[in-house]
Amino acid sequence: MFLTHDQRDAYERDGFVILRDLVSLDEVARIKRDLACACELRDGRVVREKGSDAVRMIYGMNETDGPTASQTVADLSCSSRLLQSAKDLVGEDLYLFHTKCNLKEAITGEIWQWHQDWGVWHHDGLERPDMVTVLLMLDEATELGGCMYFVPGSHKEGDIAGQSDGETTSVALVALGRSEMTELIRRHGDPVPVTGGPGTVALFHPYLVHGSGHNMSIHSRWHLYFVYNAVSNVMTVPDNPRPSFKAQPRAVPLQVRDEPTTQAA
Ligand code: SIN
Ligand code: MN
Repeated sequence: MFLTHDQRDAYERDGFVILRDLVSLDEVARIKRDLACACELRDGRVVREKGSDAVRMIYGMNETDGPTASQTVADLSCSSRLLQSAKDLVGEDLYLFHTKCNLKEAITGEIWQWHQDWGVWHHDGLERPDMVTVLLMLDEATELGGCMYFVPGSHKEGDIAGQSDGETTSVALVALGRSEMTELIRRHGDPVPVTGGPGTVALFHPYLVHGSGHNMSIHSRWHLYFVYNAVSNVMTVPDNPRPSFKAQPRAVPLQVRDEPTTQAA
């Protein structure tokens, strides 16, 4: 086990748990260097903002030989800090369904509508939400800078029907509208900002409702996401599958590669 009993309880209750200073500033700096190089590429893994050249997302940083590959990201994905934490929550062997970096640039970085990640992953052909996302902050995440917001406890709602939205931004998702969100917030309380310094990690459930606003600050807000799926959660590949860097069907279990370490007190 890497997570404490209290951390596992918090995840069960709220649908997320935050671990501060889990990743070193040196690892963060190396990942940011790799991402800066990837921003120059013209490849399906690099997604730009609607109507501009600004990079919104980068996929595939965990790949071993892809154009956006980063050895630091690949190593971190098998570290006890991330992989063992994720295994503690899902309770079985895991593989990476995808990694993505959301680069919300200063002043221009755009919103992410309210949604559950399961809305899209379910269409990828996954059977069960036996998954967990590890969010790693690569910059200081602030409210002004468009940090993520979570609705605590919303993962207990299960799969909430939303509307497919391919118009609002350059990335299509299954968004939750005004009536669903009003009802949900009345039941669970106000969303909470997920703020923290670089190296902070938040683990969250695929049913957890989340979203984020425009970056109105003069600082970038880069976040990296590792999405782990249970090896037994077989993907039934649909007729028009997304590329494997977005929805990986090959379930090869990851092995924890470093010595188990304990968390800083
Ligand atoms: C997401 O929900 O996939 C991204 C949200 C964000 O990066 O703010
Ligand atoms: Mn999401």
